[in-house]
Amino acid sequence: MHDQSYTGHRIAMTLLTVFLIAMSGVGGVYVARWLRSPAEARPETGSEATKFKFPSRIFEGWKKPDVVLVISGQQYGYLLPCGCSDPQIGGLERRYKLVQIIKAAGWPVVPMDLGDVPQTTGPVGLPNQQGVIKYVYAMKAMEKIGYIGVGLGRHEAGFGLLNLLSEYSLNNEKPPVLISNLIDADKNLPGMTKPWFYADTTTGVRVGVTNVIGPREANEMRALDPSVRFGVTPETLDNILGQMKKGGVNLPVLMYQGPLGEAAKPSEARACAAAYPQFPIVVCLSEHEEPDLRPTVVPTKAGGNSLLIQAGKKGKYVVAVGAWKTETGFDFKYERIEMTPDFKEADDKRADNPIVQLMEQYTAELKAKDYLGKYGQRKHPLQVLDAVKNLRNPGEPQYIGSEACKKCHEDAYDIWKKSGHSHAYDTLVNAKNPGNRQFDPECIVCHTIGFGYQTGFVDAVKTPKFKDVGCESCHGPASLHARNPNDVEWQKRVNPWRHMPVPRDQQLLAIDLMCQKCHDQENDVHWTGGGFKRKWPKVEHPSPKAPGDEK
Ligand code: HEC
Ligand code: HEC
Ligand code: HEC
Ligand code: HEC
Repeated sequence: MHDQSYTGHRIAMTLLTVFLIAMSGVGGVYVARWLRSPAEARPETGSEATKFKFPSRIFEGWKKPDVVLVISGQQYGYLLPCGCSDPQIGGLERRYKLVQIIKAAGWPVVPMDLGDVPQTTGPVGLPNQQGVIKYVYAMKAMEKIGYIGVGLGRHEAGFGLLNLLSEYSLNNEKPPVLISNLIDADKNLPGMTKPWFYADTTTGVRVGVTNVIGPREANEMRALDPSVRFGVTPETLDNILGQMKKGGVNLPVLMYQGPLGEAAKPSEARACAAAYPQFPIVVCLSEHEEPDLRPTVVPTKAGGNSLLIQAGKKGKYVVAVGAWKTETGFDFKYERIEMTPDFKEADDKRADNPIVQLMEQYTAELKAKDYLGKYGQRKHPLQVLDAVKNLRNPGEPQYIGSEACKKCHEDAYDIWKKSGHSHAYDTLVNAKNPGNRQFDPECIVCHTIGFGYQTGFVDAVKTPKFKDVGCESCHGPASLHARNPNDVEWQKRVNPWRHMPVPRDQQLLAIDLMCQKCHDQENDVHWTGGGFKRKWPKVEHPSPKAPGDEK
């Protein structure tokens, strides 16, 4: 295999080659039949019909398959729902449980992941300090779930592949990180990747899975990690298919790092699926968090159909593909499974769930290694001197804590004290399965005052005044206002909304957006659809009007 740089020209060439190679396909061609609806499934009579009751009405009308592939991808660091609101979707605990349920039904199950396991940014503008440790725990969790392979994608490359893979794959064989067209993988990442891997089922299916980086992602990944080079996909896939065939694989699956492409102008994953009917199932990058209700069916050059699958993002869903052997290949059925709370372990059993136990280790490690201390402190916009140069009392404001506001703003203080905001830190202290959340910066950032900003929350011992969501979580560091209460400029800065020269409804919209820095889609699932209207009255704290005050 030789090095190829993927310039625009090269992309065109590569795709052309894909098409040409397609005509000379290697090995036997699998006939993939896609069973559209439960009605088209095989009759559900006979001893083989499923008696097992699955939760969430999944697998309705399925008889026992020869294998179920559980396909996930693009997890982006989402390990477990934080519990901020209900119902949140996703998490590795539930994915583990799903696989256990399928096993309990006596169905052979083979989980596999497309890659993009780690996050590329921290929440709420925090630096990505927890990206690597969360990646390691995600890999540990996938090992417990029984993954046969995890693809390698752009998110992994963002950390530098050698850096990231030496954190887990250097010392752990399972699940293998799969990459077939990384040049000199053995030299640069010794022992840390495999070109493909396989698993056997009791029903005589040997599932093989490989991962290939398409031209678009190859470009992006080289930009992130200049030490990597990728080979051309057709050459690679011909080679891998040859190896898989020799290795007795009868159900080869392709993870394709690239976009789906359009039906009218097939490119990337679509073109690859069409050109390689030997892979009846091709998984590509998802556009949305939610996978489609049906897979994309791609007519192949061999006259059959292949299934092109997007597994969604952030682990909110997985896709299950059931396979039934036929004389010539397989029949397939597809189901998108939402990781709803139905798959959560019962409360009294959660502590025994291996993934919850891993999460317990994770938060204990955050505490032991003082992750709170790893985050630097940047300037809050109010602390940027340039922005305040017109003030009579210039200087950088500091955080002073909610108690310091009490003496002058008793009414606002009382309203705040009765609100959920005033005990947001205790919520983290009391969190269970896992505990120790007060040591997790990715929780602390929204449950305290000023974490990550100069003079803000550091930890409960050093900065006890800044526990909980306090006045300055919304108003910003306010020492200079408290010291100069009649300074109109500082009054404006601590209440920018009220001083915006726009109609009231636009001021309210600006306040709504400020709330959403914490009450975002992931953490407060009920905010969209009138959340602000419902919740603002619960925390609103207008100054009491003096008698005769018309304001
Ligand atoms: C982006 C900001 C944000 C982050 C990060 C965050 N939270 Fe929250 N959390 C919130 C908000 C907002 C609420 C209130 C939601 C509501 O009003 O329904 C909340 C509420 C909660 C509640 C429910 C409190 C109750 O009384 O019902 C728990 C438990 C919780 N969070 C735990 C966590 C944990 C654990 C983490 C870290 C894994 C975390 N939070 C990270 C914003 C955040
Ligand atoms: C020494 C008394 C004093 C302290 C301490 C104090 N304030 Fe004020 N604050 C005032 C006065 C006086 C005003 C102007 C009159 C008013 O709006 O109540 C004001 C106004 C405000 C306003 C409205 C500004 C406007 O123009 O709309 C906000 C917001 C505010 N304070 C927040 C805080 C916060 C947050 C703290 C604590 C970090 C705090 N204040 C501490 C005296 C104080
Ligand atoms: C710094 C992050 C942050 C900001 C900004 C924030 N909140 Fe919250 N909010 C939280 C957290 C965390 C909780 C959960 C408190 C707990 O632990 O119970 C919460 C809880 C609440 C609750 C109580 C839960 C409920 O559903 O009754 C209300 C109401 C609320 N917030 C309204 C607002 C409004 C309105 C705004 C904007 C004006 C806002 N919040 C801005 C973090 C924030
Ligand atoms: C969840 C965010 C949030 C928290 C927490 C919060 N405020 Fe406010 N506060 C606001 C917003 C938003 C406004 C502007 C309201 C408006 O324009 O109607 C405001 C307005 C004010 C005003 C001006 C009220 C008026 O009628 O002019 C004062 C004073 C004030 N806050 C003080 C405080 C103090 C003191 C605390 C803590 C005890 C506090 N706030 C906590 C968001 C918050």
